[in-house]
Amino acid sequence: MSIDPQKKMDLLVSLCKRRGFIYPGSEIYGGFANSWDYGPYGSQLKKNIRDAWWKRFVECRPDVVGVETPIIMNPKVWEASGHLATFTDPLVDCKRCKKRFRADHVAEAAGREAGSTDLTGLVCPECKGEFTEVRNFNLMLKTYIGVTEDATSVAYLRPETAGGMFVAWKNIRDSLHRRLPIGVAQIGKAFRNEITTGNFIFRTREFDQMEIEYFVKPDQGAAAFERWLADMKSWCEDVLKLKPEHLVYHEIADEDRAFYSTRTIDIEYHYPFGVKELYGLANRTDYDLSRHQDASKEDLRFLDPETNERYIPHVIEPTWGLDRTVLVTLLEHLDIDEAESATGDAEPRMVLRFPPALAPVKAAILPLQKKGGLPEVATALAETLRSHGLATEYDESASIGKRYRRQDEIGTPWCITVDMESLTDQAATIRDRDTMAQERVAIAEIPAWIEAKLRK
Ligand code: GAP
Repeated sequence: MSIDPQKKMDLLVSLCKRRGFIYPGSEIYGGFANSWDYGPYGSQLKKNIRDAWWKRFVECRPDVVGVETPIIMNPKVWEASGHLATFTDPLVDCKRCKKRFRADHVAEAAGREAGSTDLTGLVCPECKGEFTEVRNFNLMLKTYIGVTEDATSVAYLRPETAGGMFVAWKNIRDSLHRRLPIGVAQIGKAFRNEITTGNFIFRTREFDQMEIEYFVKPDQGAAAFERWLADMKSWCEDVLKLKPEHLVYHEIADEDRAFYSTRTIDIEYHYPFGVKELYGLANRTDYDLSRHQDASKEDLRFLDPETNERYIPHVIEPTWGLDRTVLVTLLEHLDIDEAESATGDAEPRMVLRFPPALAPVKAAILPLQKKGGLPEVATALAETLRSHGLATEYDESASIGKRYRRQDEIGTPWCITVDMESLTDQAATIRDRDTMAQERVAIAEIPAWIEAKLRK
């Protein structure tokens, strides 16, 4: 069923709240601008994505190691990286209604080219008032460490996880004694004082990133960039199962790239609210390590064991937003059609067709009756599946139709019904979420049956 994009977004947001994926944050206190609580299914989905990423890009690779560095670091880090001086957004205020906007967003909404901050002739979209001059606003979230709140105690919440990996480079180099390339991966929170938030979890002030700083010999950067582009594409298509036509690989033009970057590609997605960034890939050359070497006065060069040369490695940086990954996984796999409600009206029927490996719940065990020995058999099967590490729900409430609907809405790939015959044939019926095909499988074989499907 083709569905209006705004309606799709609204249905997704309400499904997420109703079924326990994502709720508005601080809701009992009237909410808090653009903060979200991940509920039981949302946090499990996010964890499954995070684990799949870590396994694929850290555990299963010989050239990448993981780290975990602090959210609050020495403020000198952000001075050296350039964030304190230049990590800004262009802002304007409406002189009449006093609302604040990102100038580039206002310009883009008025049809000017992406990134333009030229607002000549434009007025406030809310009240048609006149704008102030465009000013640069720093996105770093400031805090104070210790008992005094003055300039000496100022610290910042990291605006990206990358900084911690550059700062730890010297220790990683010295403790590993490896040859290049060396990739350093980290998953964690980042904070930005975003002015224009919105579109659900697309842009928030607190979000998770999954980033890799891939240190290479200076002449290996271009080739490593190509390999990472292929790896990111494969993550999107083979793990998240995003349709290739929903993705855009946006090569950033020379004049729009950071001055130190020799190549940058934004991986964009067709969201219901437009084509916008999902991930990024940049060749950052030796910029970051050179800046930190200058500022810290530590030698951050790499001693090449083959040539005996010392040089600053170049860095290829693939970066993934974890919350945006959750959002595209929900959007891509949300299937909406129409069904007749109990009162005979047409109402949207929603199924989340997640790739099974990412689904928060793998199996639901549904006894057809609440008595006659069925709950005992069904509960025992649920326990067995859990003991195999498979997230399993047991549900004996409501009609079987309602129970299937609920599991479809949380994206459970397999519903297993236990019926009277199960008591004699020791088998149960497995219903496939996507094909609706039903298969009778011996109860003792069900864990292996599911595990085999998950490996596919
Ligand atoms: N170290 C490079 C870096 O941080 P970025 O493009 O600013 O690059 C990387 O951020 C990714 O983090 C983005 O591609 C996006 O997925 C995610 N991201 C950035 N800002 C975000 C925000 N305010 N809310 C949610 N995700 C965000």
